[in-house]
Amino acid sequence: MDNIRNKLLIGGVSNGWNSFSVYGPTIVSKTEGVYLWDNNNKKYIDYCMGWGSHFLGNTPEFAKRAFELAYSKGFGIQYETDFQLLLAQKINQYIPSMEKIRFTNTGTESTMQAIKIARAYTGRDKIVKFEGHFHGVNDYLNFGNDASLLGDKEDGIITSLPGSSGIPKEMSKYIEIIEYNDLETFKKVLSNSDIAGVILEPVCLASAIMYPQDSFLTEIRKLCDMYGIVLIFDEVMSGFRSNLGGAQKDFEINPDITVLSKILGCGFPISAIGGKTEILSVVDPIGDCVISGTNNGRLLNVMGALLALEELEMHPEYYSHLHRLSEYFIKKSNELLIQYGVNGVVKGYAGRIVIHFGTTKLGDNFRSSVSGWDREFHNKMYKYCYENGLYGFLLPLKYCPEPICITPKHTFDDIDQTLEIFENGLKLYCKNNV
Ligand SMILES: Cc1ncc(COP(=O)(O)O)c(C=O)c1O
Repeated sequence: MDNIRNKLLIGGVSNGWNSFSVYGPTIVSKTEGVYLWDNNNKKYIDYCMGWGSHFLGNTPEFAKRAFELAYSKGFGIQYETDFQLLLAQKINQYIPSMEKIRFTNTGTESTMQAIKIARAYTGRDKIVKFEGHFHGVNDYLNFGNDASLLGDKEDGIITSLPGSSGIPKEMSKYIEIIEYNDLETFKKVLSNSDIAGVILEPVCLASAIMYPQDSFLTEIRKLCDMYGIVLIFDEVMSGFRSNLGGAQKDFEINPDITVLSKILGCGFPISAIGGKTEILSVVDPIGDCVISGTNNGRLLNVMGALLALEELEMHPEYYSHLHRLSEYFIKKSNELLIQYGVNGVVKGYAGRIVIHFGTTKLGDNFRSSVSGWDREFHNKMYKYCYENGLYGFLLPLKYCPEPICITPKHTFDDIDQTLEIFENGLKLYCKNNV
């Protein structure tokens, strides 16, 4: 079977991300809640959770209703119905900065379209992004997000190196990369160049966990206003994760444009771009910035997103449970690191948590987040945890660990079992065994 798979599917997978380092792909036979089973019927607790999209579990009840409802109206509807409006109203109710909304399908597509809107609105070409922030794999933004590609840094400005082969060199002319939380360089870049927009994850959750320091977001907001630059929050990962208002509610900053996906559909492939009426009015059919496509606003996905958001709004206890689980995991795992004398630290935001071996001091920029990573110890622990039934836990990326996803559907029992496996791994591998 493996031979046929590898012959037909590139690298044996349909999605490159599913080929985990050390193990390659796990062929999944079924999922249920926060669990999955492989082809040998081995059960795992899932910490990948659809790359952060399965916030309501892998098999949520609302999805069945979404399928039935969409099918009863005509499954493939791609035309306008009342449901796109209902979904837009729901999003706007919780994220009021999204005054006007367009639906798309993926985060990669939406961040690309969001910067196109910024260009169309300002008539300028360049975009500022922060090192280590991930905005999908479109050719405009797939720069400076993998530690293998730490570009040279001169006067705070980082050489733009692409995160994939096949990206034309010229694309780097349109992007300025700086370190997250480096306000001085940000000011300098804004005053010197032809900048249309700045895009960031308000709290960086995709590769490393990086918080905005003190008044960083407030200052960015002020500077964007001062220079007429469009401020774009990529809330593909953070949106609806900590609360229904997104990270922008937590940090009390209104961006000009927000991009949502992942938890918006809780497994249904949908994304939304929304923002200030004046800015979004450049989009077709009002303006001539074209953001349309065969699958945009397809009823099934719209219905899925609508019912997912209704489920989240009906159950505020999901969020309180998630925050408790998240704090519990961070506290207990940090205690275990201390107990076993492991140089490392655990940090997170609303269930998106990174376990970093090699240093206790993770800063809030990418360079400090990846420095001193003890890959060898990490890989041993990753292998142990995987073999003992934890999926997507301690997943090593190329140069830093991938954070895990705890969801409101995980239980304290799941977390305790996980901590037990984690502790057994530490007992086995740690030098200062106690
Ligand atoms: C913050 C962020 N932006 C954009 C993307 C790309 O989204 P997609 O995988 O739907 O293309 C991701 C994916 O992980 C992400 O985490």
